[in-house]
Amino acid sequence: MSVILEFKDFGFRYTGNKEFTVRDINFRIRHGEFVMLSGPSGGGKTTLARAMVGLIPHFYMGEMEGSVLIDGVSTKNKEVKEISRTIGYVFQNPDNQIFMTTVIRDVAFRLEFMDLPKEEMINRVRYILDKLGIADLMYRRVETLSGGEKQKVAIAGVLVAQPKVLILDEPTAYLSPKSALGLMKLLDRLNKELGITIILIDHRMDLAIQYVKRMIVLYNGRIVLDASTKDALETALDKLYGINIPTISRLYHIFKRWGYNPPSPIIEAEDLSRYILKEVVKA
Ligand SMILES: Nc1ncnc2c1ncn2[C@@H]1O[C@H](COP(=O)(O)OP(=O)(O)O)[C@@H](O)[C@H]1O
Ligand SMILES: [Mg+2]
Repeated sequence: MSVILEFKDFGFRYTGNKEFTVRDINFRIRHGEFVMLSGPSGGGKTTLARAMVGLIPHFYMGEMEGSVLIDGVSTKNKEVKEISRTIGYVFQNPDNQIFMTTVIRDVAFRLEFMDLPKEEMINRVRYILDKLGIADLMYRRVETLSGGEKQKVAIAGVLVAQPKVLILDEPTAYLSPKSALGLMKLLDRLNKELGITIILIDHRMDLAIQYVKRMIVLYNGRIVLDASTKDALETALDKLYGINIPTISRLYHIFKRWGYNPPSPIIEAEDLSRYILKEVVKA
């Protein structure tokens, strides 16, 4: 698949700071990928997200090195509004993203620049709410929504513009483990059914392990790991700073240390149990 997003020797220093927040950033994202961008707080994840949608350099003042390309074109030569049609960005806190009083108004508001007939606008809103499984929230007032519902409305507001890439900045921070897992399944569906490229900024790898295909880890403004999820869990546990390692992958390493050879660090609990019964208990 072709490259949709590319960082080339990118660096950024916010005005007023002495140090660069991020530096020597090089990676490419292809259409249809499901990537997790992770690492400890303050590492520069949100800064990279801002650069992906052009808020850096267009809104944040500072010194930028290198370039960020979307479909081969530098973000310096694109307007943020234009970029937002390709790349949707769900902010860290959904309250910063919901502007209107009701769900339908808020989601429809994202379509206003398109000049669609009212009927078509409502149909699109209904379609996307339906896809997210929240059609029943359409006429609800925003202040009556739970944290998880607000998160989904914020995602709907971004998706309704039909972006090719969806960036979510720590979307599970305000969610229960159950809602967070539901969100992961939803992202997996958007990725598989609609072909949307997903860039998930999060540290809940335990929840995302079945869906995320690639891990990029940022530590102190540098990329310290860029690997497939399987390779990351197999050989680079020490580089997964600040990340919730799935228990199943820890078990994999324990059995390895004991001289066994389980098939993969990404394995269903049931399959690992079967392996243990067959190869370990019977041995
Ligand atoms: N708006 C800003 N103005 C000045 N410095 C900032 C701003 N946003 C972020 N920074 C700096 O960049 C560092 C990394 O921030 P951020 O990109 O938000 O990391 P992360 O999302 O990984 O927690 C912060 O510790 C801070 O020093
Ligand atoms: Mg952040």
